[in-house]
Amino acid sequence: MRVAAYERYGPPEVAAVAERPDPVPGAGEVRVRVHAASVGAADGAGRSGTPWFARLAFGLRAPRQQVLGSDFAGIVDAVGPGVTRFAAGDRVFGATGAAAGAHAELVVVAESGAIAPLPDEVPMADAAALCDGGLTALPFLRDGAGIRPGMRVLVNGASGSVGAAAVQLAKHFGAEVTATCGPAHVELVRGLGADRVIDRTREDFATGHDEFDVVFDAVGKSTFRRSRRVLAHGGTYLTTVPSFAILLQQLTSRFGSRRAVIMFTGLRKDADKAPDLEVLAALAGAGGLRPPIERIVPLEDIAEGYRLVDSGHKAGSVIVTPAGRAPAVASDDPTEAAA
Ligand SMILES: NC(=O)c1ccc[n+]([C@@H]2O[C@H](COP(=O)([O-])OP(=O)(O)OC[C@H]3O[C@@H](n4cnc5c(N)ncnc54)[C@H](OP(=O)(O)O)[C@@H]3O)[C@@H](O)[C@H]2O)c1
Repeated sequence: MRVAAYERYGPPEVAAVAERPDPVPGAGEVRVRVHAASVGAADGAGRSGTPWFARLAFGLRAPRQQVLGSDFAGIVDAVGPGVTRFAAGDRVFGATGAAAGAHAELVVVAESGAIAPLPDEVPMADAAALCDGGLTALPFLRDGAGIRPGMRVLVNGASGSVGAAAVQLAKHFGAEVTATCGPAHVELVRGLGADRVIDRTREDFATGHDEFDVVFDAVGKSTFRRSRRVLAHGGTYLTTVPSFAILLQQLTSRFGSRRAVIMFTGLRKDADKAPDLEVLAALAGAGGLRPPIERIVPLEDIAEGYRLVDSGHKAGSVIVTPAGRAPAVASDDPTEAAA
């Protein structure tokens, strides 16, 4: 099978197409032909080996896993002994987590893993993008902030993959959503359903008082300290990006009037991710969740995908299509239209 592999940390060009033996599904495992996989922020950190602490996860001197990619969508093409949940031909999507390996024509996952059926209405590219942003935004809003109807939610970095999912999910939960982004993405974010969009180059969301029940810093570009003033009494600041300060504030703010929360959603158990995939699939299947996609690139253009990720300004997700176009699925799937 063809994969996008890298042997050393470095710029986007260290990732290139390579050949690997086809994996064989063992007992309880399914093999998926990958029609779409996201190239996300974690892949960018794994490829470059930055920031330094990424190497604690990806390998100190050189990458341990040579094939990156976690979020995938595709079609089951073989199952191992004892598999009952899936059969060849099923449309599925999911996340391989720390095992990575999704930037490949074939990926093997446990049927009890983070994998779920994909409704026909949801294009493959959208499904991979849902895992990229939705599988993070959902636990942050639901479990981290305890989101409820009527809450006032600010999403900082609303045009990124996590932020875009957060805007749509917060609206789904009945919140009133204010979203920030750069000038190029204002219309896109409005289209996601935000009640109010702030062009961050013209207005600083953190200058008000007592305006929000939740500040979700989806790109980690603000801080708890800066956001405290705009948070209402009992409000929650959520951030996706770790720092020494936020780890400390998470502990100390438990005793204060406003909470600081960081979560590591990629490290959640598969048993927690799988039902969330079903929630996202149901929402997307009903038309309530449509992730923006910055670009879809073929496997041989993986470096270009990484350049977009490294820019820090992609709108939504970058998708790579290892197995080429998907057969006989949702008609508006750009992975099919491209062929
Ligand atoms: N903790 C966890 O469990 C977890 C899980 C997943 C991801 N993450 C982290 O979450 C972060 C976001 O991931 P992502 O995939 O959503 O990133 P992304 O898609 O690469 O974010 C890109 C967006 O960031 C916005 N942006 C750039 N500079 C900004 C600034 N100074 N202020 C506000 N927005 C700015 C850009 O918007 P404009 O161009 O419109 O300004 C762009 O649309 C990453 O750092 C990732 O590593 C953490």
